[in-house]
Amino acid sequence: MRLTLGDFARSARTRLDPTVWDFFAGGAGEERTLAANVEAFDRWWLRPLVLRGAGRPETATAILGRAWDAPVAVAPLAFQTLVHPLGELATVRGTAAAARVPVVISTLAGRDIEELAAAGGGPLWLQVYCLRDRSMTRRLIERAEAAGFEALVLTVDAPHLGRRLRDVRNDFRLPPGIVPANLEGHDVGAPAAHARAEFAPDLDWSVVDWLRSVSALPILLKGILTDTDAVRAVEAGADGVVVSNHGGRQLDGVPATLDVLPEIAAAVAGRVPVLLDGGVRRGRDVLAALALGADAVLLGRPILHGLAVGAAQGVTDVLTILLDDLTDAMALAGLRTLADIGPQTVRSVAAGP
Ligand code: FNR
Repeated sequence: MRLTLGDFARSARTRLDPTVWDFFAGGAGEERTLAANVEAFDRWWLRPLVLRGAGRPETATAILGRAWDAPVAVAPLAFQTLVHPLGELATVRGTAAAARVPVVISTLAGRDIEELAAAGGGPLWLQVYCLRDRSMTRRLIERAEAAGFEALVLTVDAPHLGRRLRDVRNDFRLPPGIVPANLEGHDVGAPAAHARAEFAPDLDWSVVDWLRSVSALPILLKGILTDTDAVRAVEAGADGVVVSNHGGRQLDGVPATLDVLPEIAAAVAGRVPVLLDGGVRRGRDVLAALALGADAVLLGRPILHGLAVGAAQGVTDVLTILLDDLTDAMALAGLRTLADIGPQTVRSVAAGP
């Protein structure tokens, strides 16, 4: 019986080729950051308030002017056709069956943007890897905008891919036929080599102006880990930031996202939404992230685990488990709505008993 996201991870592992599992599960270097993301959540206790007549909690929120059923979106995850032939199509459908929340589609998605937009799911956002070939990046953005995508998420932590030692040891290559469907002519083979050849290695802050010049969509910057860069992002005109270390896959040795969230939320000071990803696996993790200043979180690897176990239904199940767990935690903590969540909702384990 699969009751937790951990149960889905274990089931997925038995179904996937070990090198594919390593590609999804692994991080960069010694995987210190990968582990830290998950561990950080266990450094916070919850502080429940009783007799608050909380009833059934309401998880709805509004971000960038759009109503979400819950503060949980689906992170951009490349090459989902590696897990299931339907790939991102199953993710979009499976998410829509669980809740109206955004799905962020990777530049390296395995299914066509137009096909995903026609699938009738919730809001779609496009994750942008800015390529050396700006005209191809621009075409991708224009297609997404024309298809009805609602926001751009520029990944700023990947001038190239981090050194993922599992993939180096496995000499990992995408099997023939697993290609980024929206990048004409790109046959990836080894993802790290492809990124070195194709990603713009020299981006600076002017890229935000460039994005603004090619699209009217809101722009979020994903991969912010310091208050300095958060302020810079707001000043550059970003409409939101995503506190992310790419699930520990880029620079090993950076802190857990939850650990840097408070300084970033303080620096942003409510001017734009602050999203966080990395290590979110339980309802109480969502609570902790919101208590420490996030407006919403993104879910990464567990979506791939759901996809591996049961295609669209597996994605629905993973999201439903997480959202039910969030509702349960809110009810038991005396939290009626997300507005009731704040710094008073958590207590640092280090503070002692
Ligand atoms: C990613 N991530 C990612 N990020 C991005 O901006 N563009 C991408 O194409 C991908 N692709 C990708 C593939 C795989 C297999 C993984 C595991 C991750 C990073 C992702 O969006 C997110 O930041 C992390 O996965 C969040 O951490 P958790 O939830 O996986 O711990």
